[in-house]
Amino acid sequence: MRSFSPENTSPRDLHAVLLNGVAPRPIALVSSMSADERVNLSPFSFFNAFSSNPPVVVFSPSYRGTDGTAKDSFLNVVETGECTISAVPYRLVEQVSLASAQYAHGVDEFEKAGLTKRPSVEVAPPGVAESPFIMECKLMQHIELAKGAPASGNLMICRVLRIHVAESAFNGDKLDPHRLDLVARMGYSYYCRASGNAVFEAPQPRAIGIGFDALPGYIRTSDLLTGNDLALLAGVPALPERDPAFPAFPDGIQGDSVDIELAAGNPTAALSALMLSASSKAEKNTALFRIAKGFLQQRKVAEAWQTLYMVQ
Ligand SMILES: Cc1cc2nc3c(=O)[nH]c(=O)nc-3n(C[C@H](O)[C@H](O)[C@H](O)COP(=O)(O)O)c2cc1C
Repeated sequence: MRSFSPENTSPRDLHAVLLNGVAPRPIALVSSMSADERVNLSPFSFFNAFSSNPPVVVFSPSYRGTDGTAKDSFLNVVETGECTISAVPYRLVEQVSLASAQYAHGVDEFEKAGLTKRPSVEVAPPGVAESPFIMECKLMQHIELAKGAPASGNLMICRVLRIHVAESAFNGDKLDPHRLDLVARMGYSYYCRASGNAVFEAPQPRAIGIGFDALPGYIRTSDLLTGNDLALLAGVPALPERDPAFPAFPDGIQGDSVDIELAAGNPTAALSALMLSASSKAEKNTALFRIAKGFLQQRKVAEAWQTLYMVQ
């Protein structure tokens, strides 16, 4: 592996390495106001939520890398102790990028980026009306990480006083990531979009799993199963019993071929095709591992275990 330490890497290179590895990062579109009520809007991807009780989020405006001066968002939030943070959906990404330009102090980036002010309830700075998710925040604490050194960060620890969520972002009473369609910042100028195929579920095991060390050796050392496959198998609370009734095929299931049925996402039919085939023992074992993987892709862990018990 290549190793980087702050001592032997330029700040610019370290910045690039760090931001590629700590990715994707959510983007806070921070609206703030100066004491004389001039509005500012800028994106920050050194940002995350750190507690829900109390609700606390942190973003980090750094001192400018060029001359070490403070950014307008930082000055305003220190001065007034208030901001709003709006989430950034895909449809706003170019406007947000435009708002990140270094406009002079006092210039309203809502106007520059063509965004609409949504009046807040608890704080003076407005939210971004086009965003589906807006937080009204008060500064709790500010931590300066390197006393004004160029490019050094400032942790703005903010308590969330109120959250506004667009009706259109809900599916029933749950927030739907596809409807929110948020973007995140990665390294260089890469972004990613948290919707469509990029979003998937990986529920945590309900019980304490048996763990990799309790998997039978021929399963644990298989070249065909990945770490993800093994983790699903190792997440069961106890080594499953062999089921003498497995495999039982529902009426009418008779697979064409293992390859065709697996490609069609039908591991049960693949198993029925395998049982009728005249393959060798080694070929059958390989096919059983592939069929077990097919079950695991559908999170059918019990069926995967029973399939692996058929390996001879
Ligand atoms: C997506 C995105 C994320 C950014 N994240 C940060 C960040 O976390 N910290 C930072 O200091 N600047 C960040 N920037 C750059 C600031 O937005 C930029 O310096 C801006 O001019 C600051 O505006 P202000 O002086 O009005 O506060 C980011 C820019 C973009 C486009």
